[in-house]
Amino acid sequence: MSQRVLTTESGAPVADNQNSATAGVGGPILLQDQHLLEKLARFNRERIPERVVHAHGSGAYGHFEVTDDVTAHTRAAFLSEVGKKTELFLRFSTVADSLGGADAVRDPRGFAVKFYTEEGNYDLVGNNTPVFFIQDPIKFPDFIHSQKRDPFTGKQEADNVWDFWAHSPEATHQVTWLFGDRGIPASYRHMNGYGSHTYQWTNEAGEAFFVKYHFKTNQGVRSLSAEQAAELAGADPHSHQTDLLQSIERGVTPSWTLYVQIMPAAEAADYRFNPFDLTKVWPHADYPLQRVGRLVLDRNPDNVFAEVEQAAFSPNNFVPGIGPSPDKMLQGRLFAYADAHRYRLGVNHTQLPVNAPKAAPADNYGRDGFMATRNGSRHDRNYEPNSYSGPRQTDAPLSAPLAIHGWTGTHAAPEHAKDDHFFQAGELYRLMSAAEQARLVSNIAGSLSQVSRDDVVEKCLAHFAAADAEYGRRVEEAVHALRAD
Ligand code: HEM
Repeated sequence: MSQRVLTTESGAPVADNQNSATAGVGGPILLQDQHLLEKLARFNRERIPERVVHAHGSGAYGHFEVTDDVTAHTRAAFLSEVGKKTELFLRFSTVADSLGGADAVRDPRGFAVKFYTEEGNYDLVGNNTPVFFIQDPIKFPDFIHSQKRDPFTGKQEADNVWDFWAHSPEATHQVTWLFGDRGIPASYRHMNGYGSHTYQWTNEAGEAFFVKYHFKTNQGVRSLSAEQAAELAGADPHSHQTDLLQSIERGVTPSWTLYVQIMPAAEAADYRFNPFDLTKVWPHADYPLQRVGRLVLDRNPDNVFAEVEQAAFSPNNFVPGIGPSPDKMLQGRLFAYADAHRYRLGVNHTQLPVNAPKAAPADNYGRDGFMATRNGSRHDRNYEPNSYSGPRQTDAPLSAPLAIHGWTGTHAAPEHAKDDHFFQAGELYRLMSAAEQARLVSNIAGSLSQVSRDDVVEKCLAHFAAADAEYGRRVEEAVHALRAD
């Protein structure tokens, strides 16, 4: 193989990559050393803003294969036929810490999938938890501030974490989930993924359904205890990244089976709780899991920065037959992600290879901007309507319309018979084995006992007691014992 030549960014050969050009031996450096100037300046620009949440993560490519007929419920082309395969990219992440944080921590995990479908990219940006901490996007920046590093101490503070939850009783279900066994997955391969929100599917006849997505890991769910995680986070901070990378390199391809719960749209209004409330699950007895297909990861990215850091997932990337529900949290997210991408990566982030549609090229009248690489043909018009053969709208709505009644205003959620913040948290506690209940109580107490204000502790204890009297009493006893120490 012939020797490759080192070049500048403009392709000219570099004569010396070890010694800067100087005025005489030992003299000052010359401004004319283009290679030195370019090398230092370019290095200064290597970092870009990290994601404001989910900054730390890992990604891999793979495919999705339909195993069951779902055409009665959605007309999405990539789900239209048993056996059909669609390429995808999946990014896993932790939520609160910055880029480079430890993997084995108690935190929800992101589970963001980009399906490169023939009708454009479909992004399902979920977590490993079926529920979330809040019900309204207006609370999200405050929530995240309370979980990320404190502006004074520069680290996560139990005072802030629990103060926010003390004022957010709706978080009790997700807090119970987070401090239970599944709060620290053993690896990205050993956890489930959930769309979490309710989404809308529409079939060929225009009938609407509400759906929830569940990706069940075929590796089995495995978790770490608080003690195991503390040790691993110190010994191997990149444990999840190493596990995913090595497993795929060895050809041990991780996979998940996708199931959906399907609710006919007409049943939503009278369901016993708000089916669009992200703090609640739909019991499987009401809406059983129906299998859709299999997701496999089989290829590592070649370059983590180019493909994982620059990956941009947005919950508003839908395809025909799949759309949003009126979940307020989801509605807020429909704005937040593409806005974050324009800030973090620029207006042309959709032209980066990992983000560009692969099976359906983008064709529109958007033009120019920083770093534009998409050129139309030289005869393309950049306006519409036009008398030439430019792209035209389809006139076919992507999803079914929603009937809306009432007045504008800052309303609380619509009332359903069983809307409260606690009953599902209590059900989750009662579902746990005695050993898991004990670990849950000990995990919560370990964190809550670090809070300095009694009123914050009392408010949180009241939430656990409202979920289940025994749960509340046990957490209270454990917290008081630790605080007495
Ligand atoms: C990342 C906002 C709730 C899952 C992000 C990012 C923003 C954001 C701005 C960074 C995007 C980027 O720079 O690429 C919000 C807002 C929320 C919300 C405003 C609530 C109103 C949720 C929920 C879930 C979720 C409920 C899961 C069900 C994720 C994931 C990522 C992420 C997985 C990382 C995506 C990736 O791997 O690039 N969120 N988020 N978020 N969010 Fe949310």
